[in-house]
Amino acid sequence: MGAQKTFYLETFGCQMNVHDSEKVIGTLEQQGYARVESEAEADLILYNTCSIRDKAEQKVFHRLNDYKALYQKGKRFAVLGCVAQQEGERIFERAPFVSLVSGSASYRRLPEMLVQIEQGDTRVTGLDDRQTEETFETEFTFRSNPHRGYITIIEGCDKFCAYCVVPYTRGKERSRRSESVLAEARRMAGSGYTEVQLLGQNVNSWRDPGGKRSFAELLAAVGEVPGIRRVRFTTSHPRDFTRDIVEAIDEVPALCDHVHLPVQSGSSRVLRLMQREYTREQYLERIAWIKGARRTISMTTDIIVGFPGETPEDFEQTITLLEAVQYDGVFAFKYSPRPNTPALSMPDSVPEEEKSRRLQLLLDRQREIQRANYERHLGQILEAMVEGVNPARGQVVGRTSQNKTLNFTTAQPIAPAPGAYLPVRVTKTFPNSLLGEAVA
Ligand code: 5AD
Ligand code: SF4
Repeated sequence: MGAQKTFYLETFGCQMNVHDSEKVIGTLEQQGYARVESEAEADLILYNTCSIRDKAEQKVFHRLNDYKALYQKGKRFAVLGCVAQQEGERIFERAPFVSLVSGSASYRRLPEMLVQIEQGDTRVTGLDDRQTEETFETEFTFRSNPHRGYITIIEGCDKFCAYCVVPYTRGKERSRRSESVLAEARRMAGSGYTEVQLLGQNVNSWRDPGGKRSFAELLAAVGEVPGIRRVRFTTSHPRDFTRDIVEAIDEVPALCDHVHLPVQSGSSRVLRLMQREYTREQYLERIAWIKGARRTISMTTDIIVGFPGETPEDFEQTITLLEAVQYDGVFAFKYSPRPNTPALSMPDSVPEEEKSRRLQLLLDRQREIQRANYERHLGQILEAMVEGVNPARGQVVGRTSQNKTLNFTTAQPIAPAPGAYLPVRVTKTFPNSLLGEAVA
């Protein structure tokens, strides 16, 4: 045999995809592949794709177009993830040089699919087992950060929001047993990890298949694993957001002071059209629980503007909701019609320029809210986890429990190592980050 087989993998999309890629990398390395840093050096080129909005979906087709000439040189292409599951074998028609198309629910079959490619098969698919009860777990997970790591606790989604592709790309919800989650957290703590992020499309819809623990109890149990100093979880669905989650945050110091709770719209009418299964009032009730906690819990959200039928009055309600909640961060998107979804049959009624106008208005308003929120940290001493350095600015880059960026200087000539925790006094604030100096 010749030299070692090599692969290049590029990831698009959410944290679930980022972590899936870590598992795929671990699996490929286990199969004897070495990872390289460019398409040109690789025998096998993989794209782990996202189809949440049309723009995300188009990225993979641009990449394939840019690199298809490499097929003549014997390189093989694989399309993984959400576009793979959504488009299935149509990808072979659109890009005939692709040899493997696999959705995330089929990754446990990657080793055999790789063998098929190596044997010269040019139409290998992993699209057929979305109804499985199993999650994709591998002891070979590659982790790109030695201090902070992901643990998938639930895969798939059963919510079927009217605009969203995820139930079609990631399939049915399946939860991992709490013992298995805790074993992974302990393993990570044993190899030096201090922060874990529990992942799921609807992370708080997790139900222990063994019936042992509630989601809040799982959070608490992970937070009590010796060595784990920070636990995050994303993304929570308001419908399944229970009060005991807030109580757990109050009681277990390792649980971070941050909840990401996508609202999507401030109008109950639009929420109903979106099939979100909660009203503005019910959402605000959950926010009131969070605000009622003993700890100050930072809140962030996702918003879609220009959903079919969204009137100026509906949009105004989203703005008043932002003002009522006072989020520390908002991810806002223009509605993008997606294949297979119920909203696809509703007229995409808000013109593109109007979507852009609403988006900009919302972002401008939110910036002012954040400016005021971040200002409250002035003079506080916060614990920062070191992520790295910014040599150009002579600053250490850190992150607070609330998930805010805290850049700071130290009196020491040598910067603290990534993964270290330091108390930092906040000396200046911005709408999106904090500046400070390490406390001696
Ligand atoms: N168009 C625009 N934004 C969307 N999102 C999900 N589907 C769509 C869509 N079709 C947004 C939601 C979700 C975030 C991950 O992406 O706000 O919470
Ligand atoms: Fe994109 Fe959604 Fe798939 Fe994540 S789950 S990669 S956001 S389409």
